[in-house]
Amino acid sequence: MARYSIAVAGAGVIGREHCKLLTAHPEVELAGIADPAPAGRDHARSLGVPHFQDLETMLDETEPDAAIVALPTGLHKSAGLACIDRGIPCLMEKPVAATLRDAFDLARASREAGIPILVGHHRRHSADIRLARETVASGRLGRIVTVSGMWWVDKPDSYFDIAWRRQAGGGTLLINLIHDIDCMRFILGEIRRVAAFTSNRVRGLEVEDTASVSLEFESGVLGGFTISDAVASPYSWERTSGQALYFPHQPENYLFIGGRDGSLEVPTMEHWHHGPGGGDWQSKLVRETLPLDGSQTYENQLAHFLKVIDGAEPPVIGAEDGARTLAVLLAVKKAAREGRVVEVTEMLEGL
Ligand SMILES: NC(=O)c1ccc[n+]([C@@H]2O[C@H](COP(=O)([O-])OP(=O)(O)OC[C@H]3O[C@@H](n4cnc5c(N)ncnc54)[C@H](O)[C@@H]3O)[C@@H](O)[C@H]2O)c1
Repeated sequence: MARYSIAVAGAGVIGREHCKLLTAHPEVELAGIADPAPAGRDHARSLGVPHFQDLETMLDETEPDAAIVALPTGLHKSAGLACIDRGIPCLMEKPVAATLRDAFDLARASREAGIPILVGHHRRHSADIRLARETVASGRLGRIVTVSGMWWVDKPDSYFDIAWRRQAGGGTLLINLIHDIDCMRFILGEIRRVAAFTSNRVRGLEVEDTASVSLEFESGVLGGFTISDAVASPYSWERTSGQALYFPHQPENYLFIGGRDGSLEVPTMEHWHHGPGGGDWQSKLVRETLPLDGSQTYENQLAHFLKVIDGAEPPVIGAEDGARTLAVLLAVKKAAREGRVVEVTEMLEGL
């Protein structure tokens, strides 16, 4: 008998993946699917679960233990509030909301009601990202000095047939860089300020296809990240980790963390250091591979969500934390637009 009844709002690309994970889990029952599109109704039918036109009706009729919100981002705030009003924890897909105001409103409502929201920044549940964070925290790399990363992929032209992906609010920063920003915050702590250049020269669309970002962390760590959706390369977390949906696994690295006593490549988890005898720039380094636990990101996320539902764990990333990741991302956009350094606190003023 299922211990958890979980409903899903939005049976699009990611909502269907959530449905698949829920139906495969021995302790979970998929309570229903809310999606007004005919394809949503067909999907519910194919899984043999109740179908609803909207989230609110689904929650009221099925009274689930929890919900997964996989709706277009503009609907996240109202969906989150509908769950909170009914005392239902939710897994909210990322970004947590469309604007910072919405994101912090949602965070406040969640805090005041004591109803948790887990934001779907799934990489935080990936063994490589978790181990990178633990390795930094353990002091093995010594004082962290710098971080460098890249997310270079070649999206097909057809990806941009969907209008919102070509227009303001789409673009590789909000869609993709937000994950890398979240990972870097998770591993290295808060980001104080950013500078950035963006370009749409390759695709010629309204939105950027390429960007370079400079980051200063509150710890003093300095970092750089480049991103492009118009480069044929293996260098993205999706392709290198083998943990993402829809991507072939090609083991390589996309993130490099440099400390006074050693450095770490992610996700191959090569740890370079001098060994017990020490050394300097001209001595041969020791290369050690830190073992990963073999777990799967999205399964880990669901396992964690079940503990959040039980009240056994606080969300690894709650609504406020998700809002802070969004704040950094919006600071990057502002820095590029205005051609200046932007403090992340600027984005948070008045919120
Ligand atoms: N974590 C991840 O790996 C990941 C991957 C893709 C998308 N996302 C996020 O998930 C969200 C959904 O993205 P997607 O790519 O699945 O979008 P999508 O457009 O494929 O799916 C959205 C679905 O919501 C349905 N919908 C629209 N309005 C509705 C309403 N009022 N009530 C119920 N259903 C409604 C649509 O019919 C559609 O089926 C976005 O916030 C996106 O950023 C996360």
